[in-house]
Amino acid sequence: MSSVAITDIGSLVTNDSSVGDGALGIRSDAAIVVVDGKIAWIGDSQSVGVTDNRISVAGKTVIPGFVDSHAHLVFAGDRSEEFSARMSGESYSAGGIKTTVAATRAASDETLRASTAGLVSELHRGGVTTFESKSGYALDVENEARTLRIAKEFTDETTFLGAHVVPAEFANRSDDYVDLVVGEMLQRAKSYSKWIDVFCDKGAFDVDQARTVLRAGVAAGLQPRIHANQLANIGAVKLAVELDCASADHLTHITDEDIELLAGSNTVATLLPGAEFSTRSTYPDASRLFAAGAVVALATDCNPGSSFTTSMAFCMAVAVRDMGFSPEQALLAATGGGAKALRRSDVGGLSVGMRADFVVLNAPSYIHLSYRPGVDIVDSTWVGGKTVYQR
Ligand code: NIG
Ligand code: FE
Repeated sequence: MSSVAITDIGSLVTNDSSVGDGALGIRSDAAIVVVDGKIAWIGDSQSVGVTDNRISVAGKTVIPGFVDSHAHLVFAGDRSEEFSARMSGESYSAGGIKTTVAATRAASDETLRASTAGLVSELHRGGVTTFESKSGYALDVENEARTLRIAKEFTDETTFLGAHVVPAEFANRSDDYVDLVVGEMLQRAKSYSKWIDVFCDKGAFDVDQARTVLRAGVAAGLQPRIHANQLANIGAVKLAVELDCASADHLTHITDEDIELLAGSNTVATLLPGAEFSTRSTYPDASRLFAAGAVVALATDCNPGSSFTTSMAFCMAVAVRDMGFSPEQALLAATGGGAKALRRSDVGGLSVGMRADFVVLNAPSYIHLSYRPGVDIVDSTWVGGKTVYQR
């Protein structure tokens, strides 16, 4: 049993209102004790007992690690020209995904592993301690399994997204492609996957196809989540709630009826500000979701087409500036909200018994995450009581 005390925390965010102030459960002049990778004690800095090690953070802020519940990390190729064209007036469509598919199929395991490792180290550097990663840039039986196997080397939160778009070789035969996804592709992918996802949208899969995909995934032992209403509202939120998806993601286009459905369900509303930012789309108004009582998460959606960022702090800053979040709501959504979107209770906050995943911020309060956009204020990132990043 090894124990370490983190002391002299100027402002500690726990997300536990029973141990501190407000919804974020904030304590000042605090300390935490970590035993065997878990939070064992939280209290005043001057009351810490004897531990094997003691580290003073000299007045800095400590927050729970970010939980990034939506990312596409395993891919090859570059789409910066597509971004540049978009910023000059071209519009975004689901079809751009096919560019990445060609590059990903052609890439070796080593190339994919190295680029994924690079993105994971960016996530850690930005304070992300738990992250999800989807397939969906391979779209054939061998390569979907291969990219999931590589993703699983980095995270247990892996998602089979064979139904990302219809690949070129199945043009005008989308139902045949769905048959392949729910048949051989799912059988090969399932041992590397926890989740099943589908891009239910204009230019991707319709509601009936999406239902077929998610039901097949559930029958194979995976849990459902969904890309919903990014490009248009074709009814994906209703399907998400019908199938008890853990999360409905994007929600760029959303009606009052969708919001009521989400608020009355166990499906988390996951917003992806990087996607609206990088496709120059209109931001959804999260205040409508909060007013209805929906559980909201923020995630990076890190992918080469619509949101090539690993920075949760950037997403929070946009959410606060343009999407109707308060700084407090943004931090809750990026930590506890992300954990709920992954149906996890061991991460997303700092309470006794939870995994010791936390971030030391070189700032007097968590508000600086959105108050200082584009500035790297992460001092160190800890997963299970061990540093994965130190400035
Ligand atoms: O979440 N919406 C679908 N998938 C990705 C974008 C994929 C791409 O353009 O490569 C997303 O935004
Ligand atoms: Fe996505």
